[in-house]
Amino acid sequence: MRTHEATVSDRKVIAVVGATGAQGGGLVRAILDDPNGGFAVRVLTRDAGGAKAKDFARLGAEVVTADVDNPESLTKAFEGAYGAFCVTFFWEHFSPEKEMAEAHAMAVAAKATGLRHVIWSTMEDIRQWVPLSDNRMPTLRGKYKVPHCDAKGESNHFFTDAGVPTTFLLTSFYWDNFIYFGMGPRKGPDGKFAITFPMGDKKLPGIAAEDIGKCAYGIFKKGDEFMGKTVAISGENLTCAQMAAVFTEVLGQEVRYNSVSPEAYRSFGFPGADDLGNMFQFKRDFEDYYSSARNPGFARSLNPSLQNFKMWLIENKNAIPLDQAAASA
Ligand SMILES: NC(=O)c1ccc[n+]([C@@H]2O[C@H](COP(=O)([O-])OP(=O)(O)OC[C@H]3O[C@@H](n4cnc5c(N)ncnc54)[C@H](OP(=O)(O)O)[C@@H]3O)[C@@H](O)[C@H]2O)c1
Repeated sequence: MRTHEATVSDRKVIAVVGATGAQGGGLVRAILDDPNGGFAVRVLTRDAGGAKAKDFARLGAEVVTADVDNPESLTKAFEGAYGAFCVTFFWEHFSPEKEMAEAHAMAVAAKATGLRHVIWSTMEDIRQWVPLSDNRMPTLRGKYKVPHCDAKGESNHFFTDAGVPTTFLLTSFYWDNFIYFGMGPRKGPDGKFAITFPMGDKKLPGIAAEDIGKCAYGIFKKGDEFMGKTVAISGENLTCAQMAAVFTEVLGQEVRYNSVSPEAYRSFGFPGADDLGNMFQFKRDFEDYYSSARNPGFARSLNPSLQNFKMWLIENKNAIPLDQAAASA
């Protein structure tokens, strides 16, 4: 088998930030699964001795130590690569300023090392739709509407200002949030399971986190086609009632949609509830823009194995922490 594979020196090296995480991990696996695709992968991690990094090394990835808070380590990690996948980690620190500093550091390192194609995993700067003066949702921390989205959107110019050949990748709500982010079905006072969102009857574009990396791989494979462009991806755009119906079918027990107001969601009290309440309100109030920008057909053209919600749920139903949710309800 390996005699037919190109050597790393023949292949374009993609340096992957967040490689041991959800988005970056999907890209690493997509490159490793396609040994004759013309690309090799460099895993960036703060812990090269960690289990995930070691697994990737065993599968043929180059592994380097880098920290997005250490610009020198980033430059070293990008050196000699063809391209990079850049992502930031808002939920690790909850600081939009830190997120912007990290995006800036990645753009500077990409320019310094002459990368030929960067994919920046970004989001809309919601203030372009809902200015700070618009009181339909509260302004947070004095200058944001949705800090974890605004910071990403505001960071886009770091890449363009530096003259980095960049594709701006707008992603969607991960369905994996039903497993890891406490958003799965919970038992209400009526004893029935429900998912709770402030989306009314509007669509919430979603995606399997793994498919984000696979789509990113599709973008790299297209060469120049999406250079300098903004592209948006989702796996399927469903209303929350439609998602509840899929839960009911796949889990074999009734799951309802508990529709709440954005005000109620913001007051739930978990860290980031106000940020997420504003985010869902934006997706609800600007459904025409937000959902039509995210076309699963386009995502499938980048990633033919793109999952829809039912496919994802059938694969992941045993990981949904239903019992735990019921116990804490
Ligand atoms: N949840 C959603 O629905 C959703 C949807 C769209 C976008 N997003 C955005 O996705 C971003 C997070 O991406 P993700 O879900 O792929 O992350 P993730 O799964 O939480 O993984 C984070 C990875 O990043 C690495 N990392 C963390 N801090 C680092 C640092 N200082 N330097 C270098 N590496 C660092 C860690 O790797 P090591 O420990 O190996 O270093 C970790 O494996 C967030 O900004 C979020 O806003 C989330």
